Amino acid sequence: MALSRASWSVNVHDLPPMDVIFGRSAVMAAAREKLDRIADTTVPVLVQGESGTGKEILARLLHAQSNRAHGSWVKVTCPAIPHSLIESELFGYEKGAFTGAYATKRGRVELAHMGTLFLDEVGGLDLSIQAKLLQVLQDGTFMRIGAQESRVVNTRLICAALGNLRQQTEEGSFRLDFFYRINAVTIDLPPLRERVIDLPMLIDYFLEEHGKAYRVDPKPLSREAMRAMQRYSWPGNIRQLENLIRTYVLMGDEEALVSELVSVSPPLGLPQIDLANPVSLKEITKAATRGLERDIILKVLQANGWSRRKTAKWLNISYRSLLYKLQETEVNAPSIRPRKSVRSIPGTN
Ligand SMILES: Nc1ncnc2c1ncn2[C@@H]1O[C@H](COP(=O)(O)OP(=O)(O)OP(=O)(O)O)[C@@H](O)[C@H]1O
Ligand SMILES: [Mg+2]
Repeated sequence: MALSRASWSVNVHDLPPMDVIFGRSAVMAAAREKLDRIADTTVPVLVQGESGTGKEILARLLHAQSNRAHGSWVKVTCPAIPHSLIESELFGYEKGAFTGAYATKRGRVELAHMGTLFLDEVGGLDLSIQAKLLQVLQDGTFMRIGAQESRVVNTRLICAALGNLRQQTEEGSFRLDFFYRINAVTIDLPPLRERVIDLPMLIDYFLEEHGKAYRVDPKPLSREAMRAMQRYSWPGNIRQLENLIRTYVLMGDEEALVSELVSVSPPLGLPQIDLANPVSLKEITKAATRGLERDIILKVLQANGWSRRKTAKWLNISYRSLLYKLQETEVNAPSIRPRKSVRSIPGTN
């Protein structure tokens, strides 16, 4: 079956605790407030954010907190369903509607009656399907393929989007009227690099969860590893963090974890800014420069097989000066030398 996982209930106990989901950043506090206000309504919600930022977790939480919590939770990963099947998967069909329609089949929209319909990666939906869903949002009606009469459904729609839907409307691949309907309320999830304040708590949570799952007692991470993680830009967001911590729990190799961050460091960019508190431009620039130097040094160290002499030569600074900088930026080169490279375990998320 082309459909992605669809379950019929969401147990709030299967979700991370609220404190872990929302953490301490101002952006997430705003998201939490929105969620509380709208949980019991049928207002459609659009959750936007980079990959791995927790869009599905948030959608599940919204369902679990709503008065539909005992109703069905129906997830549809839009791009995973072939174009030719999506209409029948979503809206169902009547017996004899087409060759092979031997029996009547209810679609996902209908199955989400009195529950929540979660359309993941909604940007991938065909325009004609968007039009049919718009109808559902307008008056709750839809038609099974081959039906003579329309049906009425009472469902709450939550959509998740990775990319920029507004831009898609300008390009013509997303209907403007549908866009306005689905984003009655928009929740923007920040990338992990913009909520580094929450890193320690998330790390503790994953250490504990995976420790329990694998029956090991992982060692807490050192301050050095913590710093490396705070400086890292997390392109895969919380999912990537979880995978790294899972690997660490299994392997117990902190050096491998840190070297993994170095080896996958993307190009240097904007420094980490904690938007939850006021910042001093001078302080942040100083810290960013230090971070930048540290990242460059780490990269060059790695490229030179962790030889400090070669690194100093390559960077055109004296050996003494490099040692000083390593000390200043709290890089302990020999201790971060990877013994073996442990990649995140494939297929674990
Ligand atoms: N706040 C959080 N606390 C704990 N775990 C989280 C949190 N947010 C996300 N996760 C974990 O990170 C992983 C990715 O989360 P989720 O699937 O909700 O992200 P997503 O935004 O839907 O990602 P994608 O765009 O790739 O589908 C999951 O394993 C989830 O359990
Ligand atoms: Mg998702």
